[in-house]
Amino acid sequence: MKDNKLLKKTKVPFFLPHISSSDKKSIINALKSPLLTDGPKLREFEFDFARFIGAKYAIGVSNATSALHLTLKSLGVKKGDEVIVPDITFVATINSVLLCGATPVLADVGKDDLNISIDSVKNSITKRTKLILPVHMAGKICKINEIRKIAKKYDLLVLEDCAHAIGTKLGEKHAGTFGDAGCFSFYPTKNITSIEGGMIITNSKKVAESVTTSRNHGLSRSLMHRFSHGKPWDYDVLEPGYNYRLDEIRSSLGSSQLKRIDQINSLRKKICKYYTDSLESIDGIKAPAISGKNDHAYHLYIIRVTKNYPISRDELFRRFTNDGITTSLHYKPLNMFTAYKKSAKVYDKLDNSKELFDEIISLPLYLTISRKQQELVVKCIRDNSKLSHS
Ligand SMILES: Cc1ncc(COP(=O)(O)O)c(C=O)c1O
Repeated sequence: MKDNKLLKKTKVPFFLPHISSSDKKSIINALKSPLLTDGPKLREFEFDFARFIGAKYAIGVSNATSALHLTLKSLGVKKGDEVIVPDITFVATINSVLLCGATPVLADVGKDDLNISIDSVKNSITKRTKLILPVHMAGKICKINEIRKIAKKYDLLVLEDCAHAIGTKLGEKHAGTFGDAGCFSFYPTKNITSIEGGMIITNSKKVAESVTTSRNHGLSRSLMHRFSHGKPWDYDVLEPGYNYRLDEIRSSLGSSQLKRIDQINSLRKKICKYYTDSLESIDGIKAPAISGKNDHAYHLYIIRVTKNYPISRDELFRRFTNDGITTSLHYKPLNMFTAYKKSAKVYDKLDNSKELFDEIISLPLYLTISRKQQELVVKCIRDNSKLSHS
């Protein structure tokens, strides 16, 4: 009841999903299929996604967390290995490392882009380091070429967390194709959704085969293959695996949304441009994860409420809430969580991420946000910028 009242008061939600009539048709169509999982719709989604990214292989799984987990395992990450992750990311990034039995090492992020700091990566390397796991935060490409150089110098692997990066490019190359593999999320808030869902992309046949086997219990043959070729029970178990499959309904929804990805991303860009144009001149407000010349996925619009702004981030959050505007925060730094205080290592100072945690706030961003709603968000920031410093 209380929750309903809160929703009624909301003038600008933080996020709303967008499911078109063709998305709905694709779901109904998939429900008519004799195979509801591990079937042709998944193959189609994988084929289209690989083509969109420009990767040799795309392997659909249940979500990006399982994608990261499987890929790290297939790259040989295990107990005794260290994996460098940014201190500001969603917890799935670090959880996937811990699920492999390896030790995560927290690196600082840049105040200029909220992405993993190159200096901090360098300061975090030890003889146990096996892999660097950068995130393209908010859809902005991280300094991936510099990460590749470091990886080459120290003989390390690179796995790109591309959960925010559907459409993020550097030059002609899509995020996820710079390192050994990339993992994407189709969670409802992402640029395209399959409700739950994830995709691993790689140019390595070995990684592709390994994750394909382990997403399906470690079986040597898929459901579709078993029921179309020979005896269905004629399979081997190559290794103990997981059930991380992506079903046919989700695959169809993902495929349907992928068809409109260019349209979706250009609309997101337009929405972000309005924020940028309106906020640029406001003293104390910065939008670090948005600036830059590269192709951006515009997944999140994160602002920094710096000391030059008259009120704190927390106070601005309260005023947004009073005005019926829902905002969010991406993300509370990993070093602050109980679980990682015990399990993660830190070799460098995390000064930027600690400072950013008090400053960042994410503005509403979704396809159906109206100009009027955006004006309300901007008005709240602008009106409060006129107050004298407290
Ligand atoms: C950076 C990052 N990595 C991984 C994930 C995990 O994605 P999923 O919810 O598909 O498991 C998310 C999801 O929000 C994310 O933001």
